[in-house]
Amino acid sequence: MQTLLSWSVSGLALALMLAGAGRIAWHAPESPTNDLPKVRGDCQSCHPNEAKDWAESRHAAAWESESFAQTSRSRTLKMCLPCHAPEPILVKGFGEHPALREDERPHGIDCISCHQDANNAYHGTLGTKTDAHATAKNEKFGTVDMCATCHEIFGTVDWYKQSEWGKDPNGCVNCHMPVVERPIAAGDGLPARKARIHKFEGATPEMFQKGVKMSHERRDDYLQIKLESVWVGHTVPTGPEYVVVIVEAQFMDGERLVGKHQTLLADNVAIDGNDTRLKPGERRVIRAPIPDGAKEAIVRVLHKRNRDWSDDKARVLYEAKVAL
Ligand code: HEC
Ligand code: HEC
Ligand code: HEC
Ligand code: HEC
Ligand code: HEC
Repeated sequence: MQTLLSWSVSGLALALMLAGAGRIAWHAPESPTNDLPKVRGDCQSCHPNEAKDWAESRHAAAWESESFAQTSRSRTLKMCLPCHAPEPILVKGFGEHPALREDERPHGIDCISCHQDANNAYHGTLGTKTDAHATAKNEKFGTVDMCATCHEIFGTVDWYKQSEWGKDPNGCVNCHMPVVERPIAAGDGLPARKARIHKFEGATPEMFQKGVKMSHERRDDYLQIKLESVWVGHTVPTGPEYVVVIVEAQFMDGERLVGKHQTLLADNVAIDGNDTRLKPGERRVIRAPIPDGAKEAIVRVLHKRNRDWSDDKARVLYEAKVAL
């Protein structure tokens, strides 16, 4: 846990600009959506799209996460808690270590954690005005500096800066929060705006397959598996060293497993000095010897949030069958 102890304070000042766009009156939505989580600030009643997306995100799971509970001694290790259920980060400022909050911890990183400032205004980049609540236009909102507040300690941001996207101040959200044109609040007469999807998709099959090009073919007595990182602004995986990815080939004779080959992509610096994660832009070739009798290979990429889990608990990011 070296990295966690060497928390760095980059003390970034907020570029706060209160823009004077025209005020838009807010009318109560006709049919409020009841199946959404009721979050602090009741945001879900007016921002159902953001709330629905967020509820599916890992930010919403940050406190309840099984692997987090397992690795933080059932959430008793004090140093682990703040980023997983933070007070609003705008109060201390981007780049400052978040403070742990008391209320509604099961909601993890909720709307207020990211959007609310010390004066109860909600920050964004659009410059909208409403009677519903105070807003503040903040050009730093959604920048790498904002995400770095919590994601920096695991080296994600350092790798990002060395990657081909590294100069884009909005690089994280451009890949992790795609833009959609739609009204950003429920109610009559609100125009479509440039909204950002709040699912924060990371280690999902869709994202992995967009980010890493996979190919495989038989060569003599081995199966060659190639991985190429084409659209990932950091290593695969990224995050604390508990998070690992396994590239696997299962060799089958019909229904019978005749052999298995696994390659670990992990930050093992603290264990054996190696970092075998796939770097941005890297092309990796894995050679898996083909055992006698194998007629088919099943190539899979597994993602585990806790390296101690068995493979059945892993999320399958990629799967393909190869006839041998
Ligand atoms: C009573 C309804 C209502 C509630 C509750 C509400 N909002 Fe809003 N919010 C609005 C409306 C209306 C707008 C402006 C929409 C427009 O002009 O397109 C808005 C705008 C915003 C914006 C855009 C700021 C920018 O960049 O211009 C953010 C961010 C925001 N709200 C966050 C929140 C958060 C976070 C919560 C909960 C803590 C919340 N809102 C609760 C109605 C609401
Ligand atoms: C991890 C931080 C984070 C969390 C958690 C979060 N947001 Fe956002 N939100 C953002 C970012 C970043 C943007 C986009 C900024 C930009 O315009 O580039 C944004 C944009 C918005 C906007 C402006 C319109 C849009 O959709 O882009 C609204 C409204 C909003 N968020 C509401 C919410 C609500 C409601 C929740 C909780 C259900 C929430 N946010 C949770 C970071 C967050
Ligand atoms: C308050 C701290 C905090 C901030 C600010 C924050 N994150 Fe996170 N983020 C986390 C934590 C903690 C997790 C892990 C949640 C879990 O799985 O337990 C996470 C998870 C994620 C994931 C999903 C990883 C996966 O396993 O699939 C993505 C993607 C992500 N964050 C992107 C962003 C982006 C982009 C921003 C900036 C707009 C941002 N985060 C801002 C704390 C934060
Ligand atoms: C060029 C697109 C791109 C950029 C830029 C990018 N990411 Fe990612 N990110 C991805 C892809 C694709 C994945 C899925 C593959 C994986 O699991 O690493 C991912 C995965 C993640 C995950 C989950 C990692 C895991 O393995 O569990 C987190 C957290 C994350 N990104 C955060 C960030 C943050 C923070 C930034 C900005 C510093 C950022 N990303 C910049 C494309 C990008
Ligand atoms: C500075 C903020 C911060 C602190 C402090 C922190 N984390 Fe996290 N944690 C994060 C972020 C950001 C992610 C998402 C990283 C990723 O997936 O790339 C994360 C992800 C995780 C994950 C994997 C995702 C999951 O929940 O399934 C585990 C496990 C975890 N943290 C455990 C811990 C433990 C244990 C500690 C204390 C030793 C700790 N964290 C302290 C920010 C933090």
